[in-house]
Amino acid sequence: MHFKTFDSHTYIQRRQVLKSTFGSGLILLMGNHESPINFRDNTYRFRQDSTFLYYFGLDVAGLAAIIDIDSGSERIFGTDLTIDDIVWTGPLPTLSEMAHTIGVYKTSAYGKIEIILSSAIASNRPIHFLPPYRYDNMIRLSEWLHIPINKLADHSSISLIKSIVRQRAIKEACEIDEIHRAANITANMHEAAMNFALPGMKEYELVSVVHQEALKGGGDLSFATILTVNGETLHNHFHGNTIKEGQMILCDAGAETNMHYAGDMTCTFPVGRTFTQKQKDIYEIVLNTHEAAVGNLKPGITYKEIYLKACENIFSGLKDIGITKGNPAEAVHEGAHAMFFQCGLGHMLGLDVHDMEDLGEQYVGYSDKMVKSTQFGMKSLRLGRTLETGFVLTVEPGIYFIPTLIDMWRSEGKFKDFIDYEKLDQYRDFSGIRVEEDFVITKTGSALLGRSLPKTISEIEEVRSKVFM
Ligand code: GLY
Ligand code: MN
Repeated sequence: MHFKTFDSHTYIQRRQVLKSTFGSGLILLMGNHESPINFRDNTYRFRQDSTFLYYFGLDVAGLAAIIDIDSGSERIFGTDLTIDDIVWTGPLPTLSEMAHTIGVYKTSAYGKIEIILSSAIASNRPIHFLPPYRYDNMIRLSEWLHIPINKLADHSSISLIKSIVRQRAIKEACEIDEIHRAANITANMHEAAMNFALPGMKEYELVSVVHQEALKGGGDLSFATILTVNGETLHNHFHGNTIKEGQMILCDAGAETNMHYAGDMTCTFPVGRTFTQKQKDIYEIVLNTHEAAVGNLKPGITYKEIYLKACENIFSGLKDIGITKGNPAEAVHEGAHAMFFQCGLGHMLGLDVHDMEDLGEQYVGYSDKMVKSTQFGMKSLRLGRTLETGFVLTVEPGIYFIPTLIDMWRSEGKFKDFIDYEKLDQYRDFSGIRVEEDFVITKTGSALLGRSLPKTISEIEEVRSKVFM
């Protein structure tokens, strides 16, 4: 097999658990198809759907599966290669051979799906499917199920989403091992950037060494690398700047293993040997906030509580240097901290870097009792719910000085009692700092996944100084 799977019992057991949570009907799980870049045969790197990987493990384009809950049968649909394909791709196992390796003994040609679904529709059997995110799968579902494309998400199965989230949120030991492996490859990526950067280089030169480490790990990137001297732009994918002494690099990058489990870390380091005093002041606030948040991780606490405490810590730290004023808890309640911390504190991590985000943030990161906030800042908190043993998540506080936001709030006179705009103006070109690591929630607290990166100011400056020798 040209891809790696867990032992067949892992998949059999996962499907058994899924089936046991349902009353009746069919579960239709869509695999992904090849996706053209600029003409049909020039495709993007193939990425299988994560839920399909979770239950069926087959890392091959053009598959789908139907689980019949009433009969318990499981069937995979696909297309065996002909000699016309094999001359281009080389020989591959047949669909049936692949399916056997993950404990599925019924396979059919892809075209058979439509017939099975039509007969289920004719006999009024429920068909459970997930909200599609790939446009080609939207077209297929729309045609098979006779639902307009823009209504597919409304017709997707909330009970299926909830069952899958419940299962995928608690990582099995074999998954934690894979995420740990991904996080170690991710650590290699960050160390490569820190050990390579010199003033005068282009950001894209650093991006290339970061990507190389992901490839060397046997997988690839878990998301498009963010590497920039303008770290205040949260998802900055522009890599054309020349890096200069006095600036900082914010590198947010991650690997996924050859089994598609993700790592996701962020480091911020000076282009030169050392941070400036101003940079050190802000870095310390972020690092202290990070350490405090990590110290709070344990089952039973909500991530929203940890986030709110982190927001207060950021606000208090900035108060010590005169950028903010007033009561930190009040400021956070009003949303004033979002001038500096516009995003959330972290997200679930697993087969997706934002694990299961395609299933809906409300279901993955919140609960029936906790609805996602709409307040600027807090609305970007992807994970708020009570933590459970076996969750894997990121902790990634940051401080970002965004000139457009500063100008906007200042001109509106917003939060004048909490923000000293005169002092803040001295930081408008500062950029941003983020520190991010990956953790599994244990029975009593948490454990770091992947080895620790240089994180304190002295650790980072020591690494950076050696690069100039
Ligand atoms: N590492 C990118 C993100 O968490 O959004
Ligand atoms: Mn992240």
